[in-house]
Amino acid sequence: MNFPEELKKRTAFTEEIVKSFLPAEEGFQKTVLEAMNYSVLAGGKRLRPLLMYETYRMFGGEEDVIRPFMAAIEMIHTYSLVHDDLPAMDNDEYRRGKLTTHAKYGHAMGILAGDGLLNLAFETALTAFSCGQDIKRTAKALQVLAKKAGVYGMIGGQVVDVSSSGQAVSLETLDFIYELKTSALLEASMMTGAILAGASDEEVGIIEQAASAIGRAFQIRDDILDVTGTLETLGKPVLSDDKNEKTTYVTLKGLTQASEEVEKISEEALVLLASLPYKNVFLTELIKSLIYREK
Ligand code: IPE
Ligand code: IPE
Ligand code: MG
Ligand code: MG
Ligand code: MG
Repeated sequence: MNFPEELKKRTAFTEEIVKSFLPAEEGFQKTVLEAMNYSVLAGGKRLRPLLMYETYRMFGGEEDVIRPFMAAIEMIHTYSLVHDDLPAMDNDEYRRGKLTTHAKYGHAMGILAGDGLLNLAFETALTAFSCGQDIKRTAKALQVLAKKAGVYGMIGGQVVDVSSSGQAVSLETLDFIYELKTSALLEASMMTGAILAGASDEEVGIIEQAASAIGRAFQIRDDILDVTGTLETLGKPVLSDDKNEKTTYVTLKGLTQASEEVEKISEEALVLLASLPYKNVFLTELIKSLIYREK
């Protein structure tokens, strides 16, 4: 398989699906709709819907029910970035190579565009009930999506992340933060893919563990890139963690050991996936490519 070419093709496919669920920019609330579309359309790797789709395919899924869920997870992820960049949080001016939403539309619209995307995500995912698919699977997938995005998932991680700024943080706390702020949405992505395709509870459990590892490795790589990357390549400012006095894997363990952790944890994810009786070569290659990603 020509992985780079496949990645391009499948990312473009994902992009089209996400776009197809974006709102029309009209009505008295036009500004917030523009800000929402601006945030989503600014780009990004579309990793979460891609992982969702590939997991769905791995378990044999081939229906349209996955589409609204793919759009929903990217909306939730994008809202998390819009709020993460706010002055009250990481206070960053660039994202996905463009001005952050609050820098372009003002702080109030930044908050509201994030709120709008979060709500639209569930409005969108709920349309899956009209896809004519197994309603129980859809309901289960929605439960996972909701929980992993909330205070027991991504939001919970962001809470501990911001309240730990400027403080000494133990490795245990840091692992808690990464598991929630980053792994939770990757777990939501892959678990909903598996659930919608009819995977068993045991299989969904293995997918959850694999996604947890992928997420932790992904966040450590993000910490590394915050130190070694450039604004041009990343599309977001470097040294944001240092500015906000964040403890990261890099500050706790150094660059070399942090890189070794990314390799080790990613390998754990690959072993878990290999333990399943299904294969998806592209998914395996995608996970490997994240270890040394530059953006
Ligand atoms: C950034 O996520 C936030 C983290 C969890 C590190 P991505 O690196 O997936 O951001 P986009 O979607 O490509 O912009
Ligand atoms: C944030 O982690 C993860 C989210 C839930 C948004 P970071 O604050 O490190 O993400 P970036 O570096 O701004 O993308
Ligand atoms: Mg942050
Ligand atoms: Mg940030
Ligand atoms: Mg970061």
